[in-house]
Amino acid sequence: MPSFGWLITLSVVVLLGSVIYQNPQPLIAPITNSLAYKVFQQLFESTHCYVTVKTNSAGLPQAECFSVVDGKFKRVFIDETSYDIVKERRKGHVIPGLWDGHGHLSQFGESLDSVDLFGTKSMADVQKRLIKYKAGHEEVGTSEQWLTGVGWDQANFEGRWPVAKDLEIDQQFKDLYVLLWRVDMHCFWVSEKVLSLLPDPLPQVPGGEIPAQGILCDLAMDHAMKYYPKPSKERRTKWIQNAMFELNKHGIVGMHDAGVLPSELKLFEELSTSDAWTVRVYAMAECETRNTFCEKDVTKISTPNGNLHMQSVKLFADGALGSWGSAMIEPYSDKKSSSGTLLVNATTLSKITHDWAHAGYQVNIHAIGDLAARLAIDAFEETLKSLCPGSTLRECQAKHRFRIEHAQIIHPDDQQRMNEIGIIPSIQPTHATSDMAYAETRLGKRRTAEEAYRMRSILSLNPVFGSDFPVEPADVFEGIYAAVTRRSPRTGLDADGGKKGWYDEETVTLEDALNGFTVNPAYAAFLEGMAGSIEEGAYADWIVLDEPLETLDTESLRSIKVKETWVGGRLVYRRAGPMEAPW
Ligand SMILES: *[C@@H]1O[C@H](CO)[C@@H](O)[C@H](O)[C@H]1NC(C)=O
Ligand SMILES: [Zn+2]
Repeated sequence: MPSFGWLITLSVVVLLGSVIYQNPQPLIAPITNSLAYKVFQQLFESTHCYVTVKTNSAGLPQAECFSVVDGKFKRVFIDETSYDIVKERRKGHVIPGLWDGHGHLSQFGESLDSVDLFGTKSMADVQKRLIKYKAGHEEVGTSEQWLTGVGWDQANFEGRWPVAKDLEIDQQFKDLYVLLWRVDMHCFWVSEKVLSLLPDPLPQVPGGEIPAQGILCDLAMDHAMKYYPKPSKERRTKWIQNAMFELNKHGIVGMHDAGVLPSELKLFEELSTSDAWTVRVYAMAECETRNTFCEKDVTKISTPNGNLHMQSVKLFADGALGSWGSAMIEPYSDKKSSSGTLLVNATTLSKITHDWAHAGYQVNIHAIGDLAARLAIDAFEETLKSLCPGSTLRECQAKHRFRIEHAQIIHPDDQQRMNEIGIIPSIQPTHATSDMAYAETRLGKRRTAEEAYRMRSILSLNPVFGSDFPVEPADVFEGIYAAVTRRSPRTGLDADGGKKGWYDEETVTLEDALNGFTVNPAYAAFLEGMAGSIEEGAYADWIVLDEPLETLDTESLRSIKVKETWVGGRLVYRRAGPMEAPW
């Protein structure tokens, strides 16, 4: 008698296989973390099909399915075989996983663990939030664990800088160690208790400002930073994990960390092998002493799982616009006595750039004011000449990919030079919409119109887009909205309260904005073909949306919620909601 056992087994396998094939998430999600599944994943191809797949790759821009082996995309294709009825059951629209091209991972995690002062409109507001936070966090405010916060802006205190005394809200607060970051992270405001640790009067430091008692900006922050209690490894680890969860929730699969200290890099390296590490990090090393050459403290990193890459450094040419810290060619329009502060002179900036580049590192310079941008470009130009004698600056730049972080205000002559050399601007579209209320007052009409917050004018340089989280919310869709409309994602309005868009000649298309958060950061991190697109051999990172991005109403970008986020073929975030039947 012939045995049909094998046939039955085969049928079951085929049936199960086809269910998983058509809609893998609900079945696979609970088991993706098991060891058996991991072994399976490394050996076998798993296929995922959706209503649409936007690949961001020239080969097959619109697909329906892709397969994954060992955390990478294997095949990307249009499904011509499965029945229409099966196709109809598919859910969701896929785009490549998003990258934030400039953020601060640990600080973001820390900000989730501190008082949120964003959106406070008065001193009373700030004090109310501090009292509420302290009531829920008995333990903070001691010398071992200061009470920290972020998000205040003196523009909301009738333009007056706050002072340490303002933090003595009541008897209890008198004894607390408090440190609150300004919205741009370029100044902080500390309590009397913190000041009591420091010399009195505080010595002035070049590149630092002390605009009021208890307010320390840029290099003057070092006075208090020296006494800031070192958080334990457990807390730092928790910050990183909380930050990654929050990023995954917004569809972010990778980020460029714009300044990681050597000690922090060691922790990153250690944690990056674990399953809890769910955001790819491209780190820019920052020396313990800013703007120095500390090659012996760091090593280049490229982990086999693609979780962590480090081959770049961050230097700082100036401060930020909000606190008149950015270095300008001409004085500020609303403070004629000042043209900002360079944190380093031209000679030193060129020398450090040269040293790091010759040691094989990409150099990324923070430059917000037009003078800072000019010196950064000078430093790059000089360094490129010495790196590749005999080839053009442009060819050499394609190899070294120097970047200007923020690239916020750039003289037209220097925009021209950037265009000629191909220097990569790394910009934050939401900074434009956050600053639009005061930028013109500070810069005047001409500079604002010709130099500030360029987007469309620099599009041929394939700008990297980011949020600078925690300075802005870590929400790429808000960034896309700001870039496409030049209106605030918070209000939907421009600087005049209208819908036209602030200097709307600098808007970009949805496609270009998406590139700014996918393929452009990939290139700027030497990860082209590996990140930001769905193509054979790339990291299998994707996100699922309810609607295709192209047909989405622009206004809904402000509130879009990601359905799922996958990193390396692993489901790392799924939006809570009613359970959906797998078929
Ligand atoms: C630039 O700064 C360095 C280090 O602070 C200093 O030694 C040097 O003299 C300065 N050069 C100029 C031209 O000011
Ligand atoms: Zn930053």
